Amino acid sequence: MPSTPARKRVAVLISGRGSNMAALIEAAKNDTYPAEIVVVVSNDPTAKGLAYAATQGVPTAAVDHRSFGKNREAFERALQRELETHGIELICLAGFMRLLTPWFVRQWDGRMLNIHPALLPAFKGLDTHARAIAAGAKRHGATVHFVVPEMDAGPIIVQEAVPVLAGDTEAALAARVLEVEHRIYPLALKLVAEGRIRVEGGRCLIDGQPAPLIPR
Ligand code: GAR
Repeated sequence: MPSTPARKRVAVLISGRGSNMAALIEAAKNDTYPAEIVVVVSNDPTAKGLAYAATQGVPTAAVDHRSFGKNREAFERALQRELETHGIELICLAGFMRLLTPWFVRQWDGRMLNIHPALLPAFKGLDTHARAIAAGAKRHGATVHFVVPEMDAGPIIVQEAVPVLAGDTEAALAARVLEVEHRIYPLALKLVAEGRIRVEGGRCLIDGQPAPLIPR
């Protein structure tokens, strides 16, 4: 009988609510999912997502950035130690609101994913939904990408669009996008954990083919 490959050991990094983290934990409950969520780490000990992860039986850790003052590298070294302790192979940033230095990003080159609530490269940064509405964008969405030193950049693994509807409020659009986020993050992690993504010339290929924008 062919042996099943070991599941990839994943850390999810959060700063707050953790709904994307919850979607990843849920997906990984299935034994056939190629990744397991080994630990959830937050830079904020009061992050709601930490308490939720604990209720799901997932180990949690807090590396409080405030205790390192302005010393970003000391914070990241502590984070790195936490990840090494757990034998982590892949990182999923899920609403992790700290900028990471090139030093940290390089340690995890091709092994760290992020989700962003916009169709990158449009609307990098914060308040993406309000800015999409203000710009009169007809489409908005979510993107899972590999992390590179530049913020909200890096090869796109999966991206899915939603329509911006007449009269949309920021909250209504955010809810429409969040539903997509909860679907595409587990999908993107699965593809990466299965080794089906190759980066060529800054672009992701899935099974050797250009990654499609999933139409809605
Ligand atoms: C999500 O919408 C995520 O895409 C966004 O923060 C939210 C976190 O929600 N991330 C960014 O804006 C990163 N640039 P969650 O804690 O419920 O997953």
